[in-house]
Amino acid sequence: MALLKGITAVALLAARAAATIYYAGVAESSGEFGAWSATSTVGTGLPGRFGVDYAFIEKSAVDVFVDQNKVNLFRVAFLLERMCPLDYGLGAKFNETHYDYFADAVNYITKTKGAYCILDPHNYMRYNDPSQQPMTGSVIGNTADLKAATTAQFGEFWGELAGRFKDNEKVIFGLMNEPHDMETSLVLANNQAAVDAIRKAGANQLILAPGNSWTGGHSFTQSWEGYSPSSSEALLNLKDPMSNTAIDIHEYLDVDYSGSHTACNQSGPANLAAVTAWLKENSLKAMITEFGGSNGTQCAGYISDLLQYMDDNEEYIGWTAWAAGPFWGPNSPCCTDSKQWGSLEPGSKASDGSPGLYDTVWLKVMQAFVPKSLQWEGISSVKGGVLSAKGS
Ligand SMILES: *[C@@H]1O[C@H](CO)[C@@H](O)[C@H](O)[C@H]1NC(C)=O
Ligand SMILES: *[C@@H]1O[C@H](CO)[C@@H](O)[C@H](O)[C@H]1NC(C)=O
Ligand SMILES: *[C@@H]1O[C@H](CO)[C@@H](O)[C@H](O)[C@H]1NC(C)=O
Repeated sequence: MALLKGITAVALLAARAAATIYYAGVAESSGEFGAWSATSTVGTGLPGRFGVDYAFIEKSAVDVFVDQNKVNLFRVAFLLERMCPLDYGLGAKFNETHYDYFADAVNYITKTKGAYCILDPHNYMRYNDPSQQPMTGSVIGNTADLKAATTAQFGEFWGELAGRFKDNEKVIFGLMNEPHDMETSLVLANNQAAVDAIRKAGANQLILAPGNSWTGGHSFTQSWEGYSPSSSEALLNLKDPMSNTAIDIHEYLDVDYSGSHTACNQSGPANLAAVTAWLKENSLKAMITEFGGSNGTQCAGYISDLLQYMDDNEEYIGWTAWAAGPFWGPNSPCCTDSKQWGSLEPGSKASDGSPGLYDTVWLKVMQAFVPKSLQWEGISSVKGGVLSAKGS
């Protein structure tokens, strides 16, 4: 009996070691829609009309991804200015109507479908003016900007949100989408305030912590004037009493890593080598929560190389491709150079009526990399379903 048990444990360990991608799926982008203003008019699209200006998910599309495509992860974007209206300020007071719409999407994904869900404040570490995201808005915690929300307020916001979801094991806290053009030390301070507040609220689930410079994987260990220290140097100081925080990485494959060009020409594996070595050296894990590419054969090899690389390197525990979501229509998240080739939303069509990126990129390229055995039970964690002994 004891021997058998030992063998089983070894066999399980071996199986576990081979499968390091616990979570895989798509980013749901649409909850942040409708606030952009060509004339930079502050307050455009706020609070916005749910179902008209923005929405979080289309439930039937989530059904397709879970039931047919067998994915277990969705990253759901929302705007801080809708969750915490400007009149209230950033913090623990929410617009409950808006929160209910968001919670309905999160609960559908996690409770009805049993998948995991990353909560994604899509705010570039800014609050108060999303009218020309990603460039407008006061940097959270910037004490030189009198209109800026404080680091403490960011902590209060996360403490409240995490507290509301503390009993939902399937939730993952993505602290912030793509901080950029700010002090890296402030990214760290804001991350730390959020981690502290989340744990204080009694929520033990997985946290994803971003770096500076759009949390780009290729530049994570680099620094230059205006981006110093490097994200890697700063984030080594991030402390999580639960040891359940992974690094949030975005990695695009076009010429300037922006994800805005149709052509791919950056090697994911080559560009991620330095950050992967850093993760390994420090026993850290990461998720790539944004990557993608356009339709056609030109990008296919670049996308599959990146997915294979995550599969091959145990530092990577999950990924979400950019992007599905109910509001893309024929527009393409891969190429903001205005290509109208559709999105990863099931059923999406290009403007000429031909199949959209769900058919041309998800089904043709990405689907093959969804691991056969993903994590479907237990608390979201860097170890896939269990907390490390240290934290429990
Ligand atoms: C809260 O959200 C609802 C629904 O979008 C909206 O009608 C209402 O005006 C919002 N309240 C505030 C204070 O923004
Ligand atoms: C990507 O394209 C740019 C601009 O055309 C070029 O300078 C660069 O060498 C290319 N990189 C690769 C890896 O092909
Ligand atoms: C992508 O899809 C559009 C719309 O169907 C098509 O016009 C275009 O040629 C495709 N691009 C490639 C590279 O296949």
